[in-house]
Amino acid sequence: MKNSVLILDFGSQYTKLIARRIRDLNVYSEIVPFTISLKKIKALNPGALIFSGGPSSVYEKNAPKISPEILKAGIPILGICYGLQLIAYLSGMVIEPAKSREYGLANLEINKKQKSSPSDLLLKSIKNHSKVWMSHGDKISKYPRDFIVTGRTKNSEVAVIESKKRKIFGVQFHPEVVHTAKGKKIMSNFLFGIAGLKPDWSMENFIKSTLIRIKDEIGEDRVILGLSGGVDSTVLTLLMKKAVGDQLRPVFIDTGLLRKNEYNDLMFKFKHQLNLKVTGIRAADIFLKNLVNIRSPEKKRKIIGRTFIDVFRQAEKKIGKVQFLAQGTLYPDVIESVSVNGPSVTIKSHHNVGGLPAKMNWKLIEPLKELFKDEVRKVGIELGLDREFINRHPFPGPGLAVRIIGKITRDKIKKLQEADAILIEELLNFKIYDFIWQAFIVLLPVRTVGVMGDIRTYENVAVIRLVNSVDGMTADWYPAPYDFLKKVSNRIVNEVKGINRITYDLTSKPPGTIEWE
Ligand code: XMP
Repeated sequence: MKNSVLILDFGSQYTKLIARRIRDLNVYSEIVPFTISLKKIKALNPGALIFSGGPSSVYEKNAPKISPEILKAGIPILGICYGLQLIAYLSGMVIEPAKSREYGLANLEINKKQKSSPSDLLLKSIKNHSKVWMSHGDKISKYPRDFIVTGRTKNSEVAVIESKKRKIFGVQFHPEVVHTAKGKKIMSNFLFGIAGLKPDWSMENFIKSTLIRIKDEIGEDRVILGLSGGVDSTVLTLLMKKAVGDQLRPVFIDTGLLRKNEYNDLMFKFKHQLNLKVTGIRAADIFLKNLVNIRSPEKKRKIIGRTFIDVFRQAEKKIGKVQFLAQGTLYPDVIESVSVNGPSVTIKSHHNVGGLPAKMNWKLIEPLKELFKDEVRKVGIELGLDREFINRHPFPGPGLAVRIIGKITRDKIKKLQEADAILIEELLNFKIYDFIWQAFIVLLPVRTVGVMGDIRTYENVAVIRLVNSVDGMTADWYPAPYDFLKKVSNRIVNEVKGINRITYDLTSKPPGTIEWE
């Protein structure tokens, strides 16, 4: 861990972003709860610590605090916003509520007198009046002598503090957000200039070390892997195959809830494009039987999750005994469970294959659990995976089940598959596909009157849903060009029997969610 950064999370909405920014600078970073002990920190042996921002005020009764011993451990520290105030508080400075909350862009005034001093480390090469992003309600009013103040803004006399001797630094603004013009430079000043870290986190190195780790862990055993054709499970398959060859047994399950022709298309591509031996399991009958008459989204998810387990268990009959289950868990899922706020309220019980291992006697291996999604994509590129797989939109585990509102029937699945295929075809024709995060059709249990030729129709409504997102946590609806929408809606109404009206979803997340169920 020596060449890495530990980020102590005090509950900021930007904590993940700090981790991303550090990794963009090719340094490995990990988020840990602020409750971590000094002993544990020392055992992890990081090259630097970052204290994140957070929603609290240091003088609140239950404000998150750390042991002051951490400040004395000699590890270079950068405090951001709340992190700075905590350093200030633990170092005997005075913090008080600012006259008004400072939120948004501010000009950073660099203290000229200090500028030429040897402690011009954090703000090296930063120009006076650089724009910084503020979001805080407290300010520091008095500070001890062993710190110098190197930056201020109109509302914060103390916007940057530095103590070269104690290797402790702090900024009131957020260098991790893009609005802070020179945020990246400030971060790199800290990581490389102050903490002396080396930029050695690359996907090439990740692959090298992960292959060794996987081989070590699996030994002579066999591994089952649920392949879906999505970028995570596909990258995982390539990585595992490179590590343990034929000991890996990838399985692709046809739930009957996939996109049109998806099962056959993907089985073909796995074999001929990716050179993978994948066991296909046709399980549509079981899934659809279990879902008969089910309307509730949560019940659908639970039933599908359970059915996956059953089908997975059955798979051993086809592929032989296995000892390991490989899963494409990513870092954001891990962070969720370590964050100071704990896992967030269940809006939807995303089933993924997450519920599987507890019920099975397989050992779990999760080689991607240190990576963010864009890093998984980079690993895919390094492993030679085609762009087509790298850029595939995410597709939920429960598939079309959560896009058919209400009861699921084969007839509705067929209608949805046809409409969805038209949407995807036109997204590719209009060259929009690669510019959005996810695109799909939702089939509503609502019928409306229409007229086609001279004939009255009374058929279902379908919704076009196009969204952009970075990680699926928040999303914006995509302003699609009119001629594209016109083409898609015309084609669906004309070509898909049973759908006679199309609407366009203009809801972002929040307050909506991406899927309708
Ligand atoms: P929501 O609808 O929660 O979706 O805004 C966020 C992202 O997650 C996908 N999603 C799921 N993925 N199992 C999955 O594996 C699920 O049950 C599930 N529900 C939603 C959704 O497609 C979007 O990318």
